Amino acid sequence: MYEYAHPNPDDHAAIEALLDLAFGADRHKKTSYRFREGVAPLPSLSLVARQDGHLVGTIAYWPVAIGKAAVPALLLGPVAVEPALRGLGIGVTLIRRTLAMACREGHRIAVLVGDADYYTRFGFKAAEGTGIAMPGQPDRLMVKALAAGALDGVSGDIRSWRAAGRRTMAA
Ligand SMILES: CC(C)(COP(=O)(O)OP(=O)(O)OC[C@H]1O[C@@H](n2cnc3c(N)ncnc32)[C@H](O)[C@@H]1OP(=O)(O)O)[C@@H](O)C(=O)NCCC(=O)NCCS
Repeated sequence: MYEYAHPNPDDHAAIEALLDLAFGADRHKKTSYRFREGVAPLPSLSLVARQDGHLVGTIAYWPVAIGKAAVPALLLGPVAVEPALRGLGIGVTLIRRTLAMACREGHRIAVLVGDADYYTRFGFKAAEGTGIAMPGQPDRLMVKALAAGALDGVSGDIRSWRAAGRRTMAA
């Protein structure tokens, strides 16, 4: 019914249009976008959903670093589904599939800014109390260990991959 695949370069305009629809054309002003500026999303973790060839869902991940030690992590999102098709499981499928892919690739930590009611089902927990924080985002930050013990001893501010001086994602 829905097909899930990595996006083609041709999908770029449709992805941007769907994100504008979901988050507003001023979405780039959101705090989480600061961590995406000048950094490319990870191609192997970008996924789109299609119905009859029409793009109806999208998810992407950016690399970020945590704390002074610049521990690598994934910033999940943005994720969005065509308004008319929400509540049908597309979002859950996009997130479950890409988190499984991230685990298989050896990534160890995922973070996001989002609604706890939605993301708890994927094993995310509120970052509050963990020592992990996102400057400019006092609430709604969530974290998930993708491997056992991956969050042990990890604390500090989320930093842009570029600002942290990281080049390759040491998964
Ligand atoms: C959030 C979003 C990606 C979910 O995709 P979806 O395909 O509609 O979601 P699914 O059908 O897979 O999951 C539906 C479930 O999620 C719940 N849900 C959806 N959005 C939610 C939210 N913001 N908070 C809490 N629960 C939410 C639904 O109530 C439903 O719950 P149920 O399974 O218990 O019935 C989609 O609604 C969307 O594009 N929203 C606008 C953009 C957005 O907010 N993105 C997420 C950033 S936090």
